Amino acid sequence: MSTMDRLPISSGPETRPIKRHHTARYYAHRVQESLTTRVSKVICATILTLVFLFGVIAFILWLSLRPHRPRFFVHGFSIPGLGQPTGFENAQIIFNVTARNSNQHIGFYYDSMEAYVYYRDQKIGSSPLVGSFYQEPKNTTVLSEVLSGATLTVNSQRWTQFMNDRGRGMVNFRLDITSIIKFKVTTWDSRHHRMHATCEVAVGPDGSILATSKDKRCPVYFTN
Ligand SMILES: *[C@@H]1O[C@H](CO)[C@@H](O)[C@H](O)[C@H]1NC(C)=O
Ligand SMILES: *[C@@H]1O[C@H](CO)[C@@H](O)[C@H](O)[C@H]1NC(C)=O
Repeated sequence: MSTMDRLPISSGPETRPIKRHHTARYYAHRVQESLTTRVSKVICATILTLVFLFGVIAFILWLSLRPHRPRFFVHGFSIPGLGQPTGFENAQIIFNVTARNSNQHIGFYYDSMEAYVYYRDQKIGSSPLVGSFYQEPKNTTVLSEVLSGATLTVNSQRWTQFMNDRGRGMVNFRLDITSIIKFKVTTWDSRHHRMHATCEVAVGPDGSILATSKDKRCPVYFTN
């Protein structure tokens, strides 16, 4: 309401005696004007309603899809024979990681999955993992591998470093799982992304994963 509507003595053009006799053209103009206003109001309301409905639908879709990134957990990681001074001669690293798709409706296509083991930020081993595969929603895949010989490069010098760390109670490693990943939502496939899961693991003097590292979730990030 404008102030004008509330004032008993209106200064509007209709109440002015001089302008009491309006021409037909004046009324036609006013009718046209109010029509235009009404039409634009209807258009505005329609657009707003559509935008609102679209928002509600998008929100419901998002709620039901609620995309979760892949979840990686490290369950096992060991170096048998860590206590033996000549252990480097047939060194092995055995790991067991699970990849879980916790989505209800989104599937994952994994391709070129590889594992890398780092010690003090230096790569000491790598190996391709399972070939390309599709992971259904609500499914868990076990990724376990044994690195040795050609896939693990541990010389006596490095082994001495392991032994020194072992003397202090633990040896720290980083296990990186990388993969090309694509997401599938019903019939729509996303583009390829490069995924990394980084597991920090510590093994104890017996060469097996420490309780503090076991079943820990590995942070996952994407680089494109
Ligand atoms: C790896 O760990 C999972 C979960 O603890 C277990 O179910 C599976 O049997 C293990 N696989 C191997 C090869 O150790
Ligand atoms: C996971 O997927 C595999 C292969 O498609 C299938 O054999 C298995 O039954 C699935 N597990 C669950 C819990 O759905």
